[in-house]
Amino acid sequence: MKDEITPEDRVANLKGMGSSRKRVEDVRFTQGKGNYVDDIKLDGMLFGDFVRSPYAHARVKSVNKEAALAVPGVLAVLTAEDLEPLGLHWMPTLAGDKQMVLADGKVLFQGQEVAYVVATDRYAAADGVEAVVVEYEELPVVVDPFKALEPDAPILREDIKDRTEGAHGPVRHNNHIFTWEQGDKDATEAALAEADVVAEEMIYYHRTHPCPLETCGCVASMDKVTGKLTLWGTFQAPHAIRTVVSLISGIAEHNIRVISPDIGGGFGNKVGAYAGYVCSVVASIVTGKPVKWVEDRMENLMSTAFARDYWMKGRIAATKEGKITGLWCHTTADHGGFDACADPTKFPAGFMNICTGSYDIPTAYLAVDGVYTNKAPGGVAYRCSFRVTEAAYFIERMIEVLAIKLNMDAAELRRINFIRKDQFPYQSALGWEYDSGDYHTAWEKALDAVGYDALRAEQAQRLEDFKAGKTRKLIGIGLTHFTEIVGAGPVKNCDILGLGMFDSCEIRIHPTGSAIARLGTISQGQGHATTFAQIIASEIGLPADDITLEEGDTDTAPYGLGTYGSRSTPVAGAATAMAARKIRAKAQMIAAYLLEVHDDDVEWDVDRFAVKGAPERFKTMKEIAFAAYNQAIPGLEPGLEAVSYYDPPNMTYPFGAYICVMEIDVDTGETEVRSFYALDDCGTRINPMIIDGQIHGGATEGYAIAMGQEIAYDEMGNNKSATLMDFFLPTAWETPTYTTDFTVTPSPHHPIGAKGVGESPNVGSVPCFSNAVHDAFRPFGLVQSHMPHDHWRIWKIARDLGLHG
Ligand code: CDP
Repeated sequence: MKDEITPEDRVANLKGMGSSRKRVEDVRFTQGKGNYVDDIKLDGMLFGDFVRSPYAHARVKSVNKEAALAVPGVLAVLTAEDLEPLGLHWMPTLAGDKQMVLADGKVLFQGQEVAYVVATDRYAAADGVEAVVVEYEELPVVVDPFKALEPDAPILREDIKDRTEGAHGPVRHNNHIFTWEQGDKDATEAALAEADVVAEEMIYYHRTHPCPLETCGCVASMDKVTGKLTLWGTFQAPHAIRTVVSLISGIAEHNIRVISPDIGGGFGNKVGAYAGYVCSVVASIVTGKPVKWVEDRMENLMSTAFARDYWMKGRIAATKEGKITGLWCHTTADHGGFDACADPTKFPAGFMNICTGSYDIPTAYLAVDGVYTNKAPGGVAYRCSFRVTEAAYFIERMIEVLAIKLNMDAAELRRINFIRKDQFPYQSALGWEYDSGDYHTAWEKALDAVGYDALRAEQAQRLEDFKAGKTRKLIGIGLTHFTEIVGAGPVKNCDILGLGMFDSCEIRIHPTGSAIARLGTISQGQGHATTFAQIIASEIGLPADDITLEEGDTDTAPYGLGTYGSRSTPVAGAATAMAARKIRAKAQMIAAYLLEVHDDDVEWDVDRFAVKGAPERFKTMKEIAFAAYNQAIPGLEPGLEAVSYYDPPNMTYPFGAYICVMEIDVDTGETEVRSFYALDDCGTRINPMIIDGQIHGGATEGYAIAMGQEIAYDEMGNNKSATLMDFFLPTAWETPTYTTDFTVTPSPHHPIGAKGVGESPNVGSVPCFSNAVHDAFRPFGLVQSHMPHDHWRIWKIARDLGLHG
């Protein structure tokens, strides 16, 4: 029997960094005690609902409210005319454009908000919506971004038709939003001209949607007595929403309280501002009552922020031995009716310039053209950091295309071109400084783990059997090595609507040695209450179980830019460590005073300060906390608390090696993921169990995107995928089984060495699944086929390759 608590016991007792501490959130969630927006019920609360356009492009000739106002329970019907005197009929977007709140003379996409009906209950509001009569005049529709740039294309944005300059330089067509160029065009073209081999391909990453289980919604409550507006909502960035509401409504910012309660998944969909928020605030101000708006599934899929829709034309140059000498990419980005992309201001195509990936490419050039079409606006990073998944898909497909051209094994081609460990920090040709990485180690570990050579031998045997008529199934081996860029970001080059992208944490230690920490971020399922307490536990030696974490209330949390793009750990996680270190510095002074030695004569030991050379003389953090409130310590203020606003010096660059083995039935197009191996390196690992959960979830979203999920439009601009019958959301039945693994390459600039992880599995898995499909058909000449790889499309590939006999 042990008679003394060892230092290891004391470490374990903290449940700090590195421990697979169980999620503290789940007690509430599994017992029905979650508190989502739709759970908020206030006295006299009214309900809002939208009249939406059935047309993708039409003039709105009239809106007749009469019959709707006669519906029992309907109190008001708002149109653009009603919002205009308040200056609220249009709102700014995150991308420097403006967007109609309610249709102002015309509509630009199917499902656009035309009128807002306010009623005493949800049913009356829906009846009111049915009774509003809108007269439309149809206009020609353009859903193809290439056609949108043709000289005779219909003018979509009549409100800005005479502009010659956009937010990012000159525009050359009414439907052209911007051109964004990065890298060295001349040097890249020279590399292409001189190369032994050039592979060229159009890589399309289709339009999809984050589709969180909880749709978007809010409750606006204006207290006419105090003049205070409280806004509960599904906000991934509550402070930014408060600032935006203040700027566009004129309500002083201290009179606005924004609260993000529990959020049922965000994945980027809940970053932007929607018409529902503005209309609910107006309706509450007008009626003096709280107003709730919660969209339904179809509304979510038709009108809120979509993702991707990038046409990426690539050229990659190499020597005949396979050394890449240059990369060229021109992207046509379909932004829909308004430019409402959620990217930092200086990056209209997000971090698409990470498209050189994990490879040491001496010269590169990227140009992106943003284009208006008659589709829903948005362009968010669906579980990816600002267009990184598009970039990763592009380069990981181009590597495969080059491997075909060189008749080379794609694993070997990657190996030849990886940035070497000794090249970090690495300056990429498109402007990034990668902080740390060890790609070769990760790659070899992954190839060994799956038994790569044996798999290739099995695949070759299967091919022979197929050709001999013994089987109708092929094997595809999907390879991916991705480099992520997360943690936006340094304030000097990352802002959203002018707000610098720092983040924050405030920690208060109570006298009895427990604590509360508040952050500028907001969890949407990532488990922040569990993991950020672990950072504090390790830094200041109080058990994670004694630390409460609060996020999402702008009246109490320090200002922060919110949670998306895996920025919470790189930015707010760093702020948390820095705030904890301020506390520890003060605790050191208190401990020294109590132990009657000089500050420099005590040293930190897991959960206490001890006298150097006399470890039996110590004060635990719990004792120090009490003393901070109980003793008058000369030269020190009472109390023990600290706040940190952290401006990261750089992004973090997590990476990963993924390998998928897929069985493909050429006659039915059916696929079966036989195995999926995911090695992630996110630097220091705070909670391995939560990291695993993040990878399972992200890879499943990646599976959905690669294998079936799509927001599709017909040529009239009708959204063909606005229900879960048509929009693929995998259930447990379709979800593959994952094997996770890791290496640890800490970030050199992050206080605890951590990089983000939440987005990595989506960034890495989409090309991995897609490469598996392509790889199966490579022996028959398939070079490139657009996602999603649903059964029909795969069947078509097999048919077009003549495999159906
Ligand atoms: O910004 P977001 O929370 O979506 O993404 P993240 O920073 O990648 O973190 C997702 C979850 O994984 C959080 O609970 C993190 O604390 C946890 N995590 C971790 O345990 N270790 C890391 N190195 C990175 C994230």
